[in-house]
Amino acid sequence: MITVEVPLSGGRGYPVLVGEGILGELGAVLPDGARRVAVVTQHGIPVEVDPGRDHRVFHIGRGETHKSLSTIEQLCDEFADWGLTRTDCVVGLGGGMVTDVAGFAAAVFHRGLPVVHVPTTLLGQIDAAIGGKTGVNLSRGKNLVGSFWQPDAVLCDTATLATLPPREWRCGLGELAKYHWLGGGRLDELDLEQRVAECVRIKAQVVASDERESGRRALLNYGHTLAHALEIAGDHDLRHGEAVAIGLIYAAELARALGRIDDAAVAEHRRVVGAYDLPTTIPDGIDHDELVALMGRDKKVLDPGLTFVLDGPRGLEVVAGVDVDAVRDTIGALR
Ligand SMILES: NC(=O)c1ccc[n+]([C@@H]2O[C@H](COP(=O)([O-])OP(=O)(O)OC[C@H]3O[C@@H](n4cnc5c(N)ncnc54)[C@H](O)[C@@H]3O)[C@@H](O)[C@H]2O)c1
Repeated sequence: MITVEVPLSGGRGYPVLVGEGILGELGAVLPDGARRVAVVTQHGIPVEVDPGRDHRVFHIGRGETHKSLSTIEQLCDEFADWGLTRTDCVVGLGGGMVTDVAGFAAAVFHRGLPVVHVPTTLLGQIDAAIGGKTGVNLSRGKNLVGSFWQPDAVLCDTATLATLPPREWRCGLGELAKYHWLGGGRLDELDLEQRVAECVRIKAQVVASDERESGRRALLNYGHTLAHALEIAGDHDLRHGEAVAIGLIYAAELARALGRIDDAAVAEHRRVVGAYDLPTTIPDGIDHDELVALMGRDKKVLDPGLTFVLDGPRGLEVVAGVDVDAVRDTIGALR
């Protein structure tokens, strides 16, 4: 088992435990004062936990439409009916959707009670469950309502990933690929446990330096500017991780077009994304002008206009004011 400490401001912090078959550690990482534990999960996730104290399991629906304020209201009603108090604890057992919802319910019920995450998807373990971002969707857009609410601990049991459907696995790999340029080096050469732990360590470092997402956290969106545009323009035919994979290749080609990186660096992007067997070309039928327009509106960018996270001589940086012709021409390199 590998333990990664996520340091937070004010001397706080929490442990992320990574290992195969470590679900049994849950009781040990729950807050001492918690008498009752509300386990939030979904039907169809073949993972059970035993918190070792009074607990109940609460199921939420599957799919992004259930990542909603009405799910939060229903959960909080059920917590109240059971008599959950502020000193008790919530456990989020599932993918990013479950940990986002469970974390937000924990942030607002009784004005906040402790939460421990047990992510069961690759994306959840390397990304969503780490960093304290919680929230739900509105009809107006994804993740528009939420809160920063740090967990007390995170338990990443890599054995739980064995039952993931192949496309969910690929989705996680797309996000994993980006960590190669965030300090991960040759992650593809590590075994699963080390690889997950390394991604957690990188995300923890970035989160620690920027707990409330005002600067450095933007680097975690490497590959995401084109990815978000592709998801919208393609009507979500591409899953998020697949779109990120294409976005990484695009960001490399764009950085080369701007003279920031050389051919070898682009080849390394193609090697890594290819090694995870992820897509590297923009699907046919997507309008280039629409992509450029959508990239200009990406809500994650820090400045108005065309802003990208790009590789360069000093590593990844947020680059604003990127020339629109270079942005459009580079799309052609990904057919
Ligand atoms: N908070 C953050 O920082 C952050 C970061 C990235 C993504 N997210 C959010 O994460 C969500 C996506 O997460 P996801 O990709 O994990 O998808 P998900 O949570 O929707 O899970 C995908 C599917 O896999 C099933 N599943 C989960 N674990 C399983 C297992 N072990 N075996 C078999 N099936 C299993 C789920 O029931 C679901 O049907 C999005 O809502 C996104 O906004 C949050």
